[in-house]
Amino acid sequence: MHDQAEALRLKMLMNLEKTARSAAIISGKGGVGKSNFTANFSYSLLAKGKKVLIVDMDIGMGNIHILFGATPTYSLNDYLSGSQTLHEVVTPVEEGLAFIAGGSGLDTVLEWSKPMFDRLIDGFTMLQTEYDVILFDMGAGANKSSIDLILAVDEIILISTPEPTSITDAYSMMKYICMQDADKAFHIVSNRVIKEEEGRDSVARLQLAMRKFLSAETTILGFLPDDVNVRNAVIAQTPFVKLYPNAQISKRMKEITETYLLGEQPGTSIETSGFLNKIKSIFQKGRG
Ligand SMILES: Nc1ncnc2c1ncn2[C@@H]1O[C@H](COP(=O)(O)OP(=O)(O)OP(=O)(O)O)[C@@H](O)[C@H]1O
Ligand SMILES: [Mg+2]
Repeated sequence: MHDQAEALRLKMLMNLEKTARSAAIISGKGGVGKSNFTANFSYSLLAKGKKVLIVDMDIGMGNIHILFGATPTYSLNDYLSGSQTLHEVVTPVEEGLAFIAGGSGLDTVLEWSKPMFDRLIDGFTMLQTEYDVILFDMGAGANKSSIDLILAVDEIILISTPEPTSITDAYSMMKYICMQDADKAFHIVSNRVIKEEEGRDSVARLQLAMRKFLSAETTILGFLPDDVNVRNAVIAQTPFVKLYPNAQISKRMKEITETYLLGEQPGTSIETSGFLNKIKSIFQKGRG
């Protein structure tokens, strides 16, 4: 235990200049394509030379592992409870890409014990030096249990479909987050777009509403078409960007990835890493 902590600190010292970008993938209503986006986006980032870790936050019904055709032995909870090492709960997909499976118990930070919390900080301190991007695939909707984590990450990637109900739900979710953290970086992806203008219009309206009523700036990462290849890729348990690299949807994902990487801020150090500092302050505030 002690040796492991020492090794972590050593590793940290060696990598002080490097820390991952962290993003939560969220939506207003469920089933709009967050998990499929996360799996394919991670793969697309990998193709751009980034090391990517996915944390499946969909407690109980997590399905990132299914999309990769991988069978995890342990979940994050096994690490937090102290029964497994960090290395043990990270399931590799391929060189430079891995995920941590969801498990019960990681939903509310405030209910965690201090040792669990310390393990989380130690664990993510190490993971932030090992990966370039950490993606949290969240469950549906704004609930109190997932908000702590959403508030802690650097960026939000909101997935919405052009349907009016998806847009209004997305807006209320963003409003909820904005009320707690006015400076959050928001990115929008419109998924299952059938008509290009429809996708463009709906997202532009959402962006305008965010600006006008919440004074929040958002970037539009792009649009993904409604495509039967998504379903085929799910059945094949392989990301569509890998299975169908020349499909329109894969090209769009590549553009989204390039737009996302344009917003990269180089040179943030562990000390200034937003994610860990924020999660620490949320934890401390909650404990009074
Ligand atoms: N661009 C697309 N074209 C066609 N089908 C899609 C597309 N994106 C997602 N789907 C389909 O929508 C369904 C839901 O996708 P997914 O599981 O990724 O959503 P989710 O937002 O993660 O859901 P949940 O809120 O339950 O976690 C899946 O059956 C998937 O195949
Ligand atoms: Mg999902």
